[in-house]
Amino acid sequence: MNILHISDLHFGTRHWNGNDEMLLDKINSYPADLVINTGDNTSDGLKNEYQEAGQFLKGITCENVISIIGNHDKRNMQAHEYFKQYIDQDEIIQPSKPKLTTKKNLYLQRDITKTENHFTDLNYLKLVTIDNMTVLVICIDSNILYQDEGFVEAEILKTISAKIKRMKYDKSILLIHHSILVGDITPLLNPLLLADFVQKHHIEDVFCGHTHVMTLRKSTDLYHHSSFTQYMVGSLSSSNRMGDDNMFLYLENWGTSELQIHLIRIHRDGDVLSFTEELIRKTGTR
Ligand SMILES: [Fe+2]
Repeated sequence: MNILHISDLHFGTRHWNGNDEMLLDKINSYPADLVINTGDNTSDGLKNEYQEAGQFLKGITCENVISIIGNHDKRNMQAHEYFKQYIDQDEIIQPSKPKLTTKKNLYLQRDITKTENHFTDLNYLKLVTIDNMTVLVICIDSNILYQDEGFVEAEILKTISAKIKRMKYDKSILLIHHSILVGDITPLLNPLLLADFVQKHHIEDVFCGHTHVMTLRKSTDLYHHSSFTQYMVGSLSSSNRMGDDNMFLYLENWGTSELQIHLIRIHRDGDVLSFTEELIRKTGTR
């Protein structure tokens, strides 16, 4: 299975001046079986930004494109509805015990908002089967309405865990906007809860974005004898700070000992793009 990982598209005011058509051609030149997009599709969660992001994602020719929501995508009371309208129409997982939830602004006040869906978190479970291998893609919403820091609701993780136990799959991956392993000025506030969840479900690979900086880290739990790799990719198409490249990752033969990780850096001269490719890890070193 070949996985292509993009993140932080930032349509709207933080979107770059690069040529999106040229970028799509480059992405589509890789024979990806699964494209994963780890959030911040927009700059401010606005309707027109979601429309543009949705349009761009529709231009990806891969049959399986899975996107999650980021903190920038959740900056207003309708943002979660726009995500559903323009990015992903799948059924959202609701916590089985809503009264026990503690996450801020998880529910909007029904009596004072016109919003149709008052539950603001977007968590999904998706199965993708390629060449007889079924992968469970666990999509966790780490974002808090109006805030840049991340927080994952424990009650939602419990509900998701119960669902996962009833599912059949060969491998699983976790998509989350905030990093579990790397902190920044707006970090995930409860990363250990996620690390336990990853260990509990034997998830080998976690994919995230948010910081616009690439780091690939492996974490080992010495007590439980388990480990996972976290792929944190930089921004695909935002106006970055000086020195930060735009980029995406391409994982060739993912899930096998033949895994090869390609880092594709995107260089911009005016609106014209050029690309450089780097092989990060060679066969058999996993
Ligand atoms: Fe972010």
